[in-house]
Amino acid sequence: MSNASAIDSTSPAPYGGASGPAPYGASSTAPYSAAGSAARKPMSLPRLRELRERGEKITMLTAYDATFAAVADAAGVECILVGDSLGMVCQGLSSTVGVTLQTMCHHTDSVARGLRRAHGSAWLIADLPYGTYAESAEQALRSATALMQAGAHMVKLEGGGWTAPTVEFLVMRGVPVCAHLGLTPQTVHALGGYRVQGKTDEAAATLKRHAHELQDAGATMLVLEMVPAKLATELTLELAHCHTIGIGAGSGTAGQVLVLHDMLGMNLGKMPKFVHNFMAEAGSIQGAFEAYVKAVKQGRFPVDAQHAW
Ligand code: KIV
Repeated sequence: MSNASAIDSTSPAPYGGASGPAPYGASSTAPYSAAGSAARKPMSLPRLRELRERGEKITMLTAYDATFAAVADAAGVECILVGDSLGMVCQGLSSTVGVTLQTMCHHTDSVARGLRRAHGSAWLIADLPYGTYAESAEQALRSATALMQAGAHMVKLEGGGWTAPTVEFLVMRGVPVCAHLGLTPQTVHALGGYRVQGKTDEAAATLKRHAHELQDAGATMLVLEMVPAKLATELTLELAHCHTIGIGAGSGTAGQVLVLHDMLGMNLGKMPKFVHNFMAEAGSIQGAFEAYVKAVKQGRFPVDAQHAW
């Protein structure tokens, strides 16, 4: 008998993962798998652009482990962010400042594995944590490489102005970048707390200038956190090549993001005004994710009068 004929169809595939049933809900026949059902095409930068061009809101949620990522994906969430918010919601830190690159890689790897096993299609973004990109563009590339090798499709970094050359350096080397302006939690101490940003004319003009610099540097997404809805809407109309994703920035952005634990009503502190508890009416976690996707797509969340400034 030749070696080839000894290999039957149930043998593990050489490239692309394990086979056989997995004990804890992670097999390819698990409920949170897109396989066999109407599997969606993998999300990509061109597909995100298509969504934007047809005026369809982009949906994003944070996730930090394989199972939540697979469930969010199965519910139709298009982008999953392994946010450094994991420092606060998973590690119990008082801010995101203590999150390390090693921790980010660990969670990114878990999320990427969960999406792969569930044949998921979500676009996976991972945060560059504090202190891993400010020193130099080369440091940023080394840190981004670690996240991309853990499975990220795009990295996110916080701050305006000074980050534009770093963004350009990364983008030129094939690393898609999501920028983050407004309330930037890594610099919460410098900002004097978790407060709305861009409220005065001067602050709004600076934020706008930074956003344009980041777009010009090649950032293709921009998280706007806790900025007035009017400012976020104006920026969304101005930035044709960079998709704005709001969190506490009103309904006028190209997409929305929420922290997973917040939208499931699990917050150890005070729930921010911009959060809606989607679990309260849903009855299941996948139901909560589906309700979020539907509400964002239909323009029912966020409600400016309730969730924005
Ligand atoms: O870390 C995070 O979860 C984030 C979101 C709040 C956008 O940056």
